[in-house]
Amino acid sequence: MTQVRDTASRGAVYSAAARHMHWVTAAAVLAMIPAGLVMTYRGNTLNIWDGLTNAMYSSHKLLGFLVLWLVAGRLAYRLLKGAPPDEPTLLWWQKAGSHLVHWLLYGLLLVVPLLGWIGVSLYPSLKLFGLFSLPAIATPNQDLAGQVLEIHGTLAIVMGLLACAHIGAALYHHLIRKDGVLRRMLPGLK
Ligand code: HEM
Ligand code: HEM
Repeated sequence: MTQVRDTASRGAVYSAAARHMHWVTAAAVLAMIPAGLVMTYRGNTLNIWDGLTNAMYSSHKLLGFLVLWLVAGRLAYRLLKGAPPDEPTLLWWQKAGSHLVHWLLYGLLLVVPLLGWIGVSLYPSLKLFGLFSLPAIATPNQDLAGQVLEIHGTLAIVMGLLACAHIGAALYHHLIRKDGVLRRMLPGLK
């Protein structure tokens, strides 16, 4: 009986929808963290406020806003549909550790863009490409905006470090343990 269950869970993979949402989110976040650092370096450190810096800020805010809604949908889907059973060869602490990191990543994926949105509402700096504005979710308060955006940046870096550990773990499973963990999330599976 356990054998049957183990064989079944060994082949279990995330649904196509979960895999698509994972890779779109991962690509967006892995691009946005270095781009966010370059953007603030140009603006705040070098004090260059030209068309490129402004376009970087607008793109950052727009992409981050879209990521927020994608993650909200992804989280609702995850809570409603669940995930495939854990890879059966994992030890208890590997299962506990991976669940902890996944839920921390989900939390940060929501909190980081939300703080960005609150920060630009407080500043206020809601206009994108000089064309349209994001809706405001807080009344202006520039001092508070500075603090909120600082926490936003710090937590984005924490998320980046956690994502590096997560990617390292996926590679460890694939290259050293040679188990099925990475396969569960690969795109293009039937
Ligand atoms: C997953 C989504 C997001 C990620 C990974 C992210 C990441 C970052 C990073 C790494 C920085 C640079 C921090 C620093 O230099 O200390 C930054 C700055 C910034 N982000 Fe985001 N961000 C996201 C979403 C958003 C959203 C949705 C908004 C607003 C709608 C936003 C607004 C800003 C602003 C205004 C800054 C500049 C802060 C400053 O000049 O001090 N971000 N972000
Ligand atoms: C090259 C980059 C990445 C690889 C190879 C990768 C790989 C994986 C794998 C194999 C899983 C399934 C783990 C399991 O079955 O237990 C997974 C799940 C997950 N990944 Fe990634 N990942 C990457 C980037 C990211 C990034 C950048 C984030 C977010 C910042 C992220 C967030 C998550 C989350 C939240 C889960 C849990 C999914 C769930 O159970 O609903 N991943 N990832």
